Amino acid sequence: MATQTQTTTAAPAQSLFQTAPYIPPDAIFALTADYLADPSPKKVNLGQGTYRDSNGQPWVLPSVRKSRQILQDQQLNHEYLPILGHAGFRKAAAKLVLGNSLYQPLEKKIASCQSLSGTGALHLAGLLLRYCRGTSETPTVYIPTPTWSNHFQVYSSLGFKCQPFKYYDSDRKGLDFESYISALKSAEPNSIVILHACAHNPTGCDPSQEQWREIGATMKERQLFPLFDAAYLGFNSGNVDNDAFAIRYFVQELKMEIGLCLSFAKNMGLYGERVGCCFVVTETESAAKNTQSVLEMLQRSEISNPPAYGAKIVTTILEDEELTQLWFQDLITMSSRIRSMREALYNHLNTHKAAGTWEHLIQQSGMFGFLGLSPEVVRTLKEQYHIYMADNSRISIAGLNPSNVEYVAQSIAECLK
Ligand SMILES: Cc1ncc(COP(=O)(O)O)c(C=O)c1O
Repeated sequence: MATQTQTTTAAPAQSLFQTAPYIPPDAIFALTADYLADPSPKKVNLGQGTYRDSNGQPWVLPSVRKSRQILQDQQLNHEYLPILGHAGFRKAAAKLVLGNSLYQPLEKKIASCQSLSGTGALHLAGLLLRYCRGTSETPTVYIPTPTWSNHFQVYSSLGFKCQPFKYYDSDRKGLDFESYISALKSAEPNSIVILHACAHNPTGCDPSQEQWREIGATMKERQLFPLFDAAYLGFNSGNVDNDAFAIRYFVQELKMEIGLCLSFAKNMGLYGERVGCCFVVTETESAAKNTQSVLEMLQRSEISNPPAYGAKIVTTILEDEELTQLWFQDLITMSSRIRSMREALYNHLNTHKAAGTWEHLIQQSGMFGFLGLSPEVVRTLKEQYHIYMADNSRISIAGLNPSNVEYVAQSIAECLK
């Protein structure tokens, strides 16, 4: 006998995600998408902070090319890395940041964990600091303003209270050092302060060495924890030792515990390989050992193991004296081209009599120029001149080259008439 199938009329399914809000895309990635969709032959992308050569093309560093060749000849395998990452990489990266003479005596006081580039290192440092707070309240994270747009997102998503403080004086177009120090003086002890190790994003304004000393002394006195974001080490001045000044000063002279989030995205052009490292320099060897065990546990529950290829590329370079020297040359190539484009833009702005003064542009350093244009001018540049930059008029100087720099300056001058 045929059985009759019973049909039940279920209520229309209610999505588990019905209440998910729509979050607009990240502004800088959305800007890149707009740029790519623009058919104009005149278009210029000054949005995303990625290095371009003088033909406007991505640049694979010669040192990286050589390293890749060596890895290929070694018949690279694709096994898992340990949870903490590539041991040689972690050691070579720590030596690079601290310099050999400072690294040696501190070796056993350093906890480290390979991370998903700089962003992953910042996130891991946040997880660690939250975990180590014990029973006390989650500390406040002090963030210079303006800053890299992701700082607030990373730390607020981890449940930290994020406290912005004024970093930049838009009238004087420079670092607002008085506000900086007064924010530090009023911060509660044990708060965390985000410090851009060099090449402050987006302003391009770094403290002088004298100012770093005062920042450090104030932080030490107030018992604030320095968390260095080192996304541009060596890329800023072309010299790693110069760019690591603040980090080394805090460790060597002030004898402070620090957190350090290192990225090889910009300085080795390994953007998509996601290679970075989270370090903590601690007061004692036992603190370092335990901290590293916490990092290992946190990493296991987040990603299990970090990606191997980028770490192998970096290690091959840093463990070979000749390749390291070649990389130092690459840093000079990139930073010098950026500096020369900064000067070219400044000169063309003056030649085209762009309203206002532009000295700030050549006083800034690093990947970015903080122009100080109004949002209306930024919009006009995009809509009428096909020149794309962040809403706050931050430009990635690496997007300029001999073929477009005058066009950009002339367009800015026309918009400011
Ligand atoms: C200041 C700063 N920190 C961190 C990062 C993180 O970069 P990544 O995660 O690609 O290493 C960036 C990238 O633009 C940055 O500008």
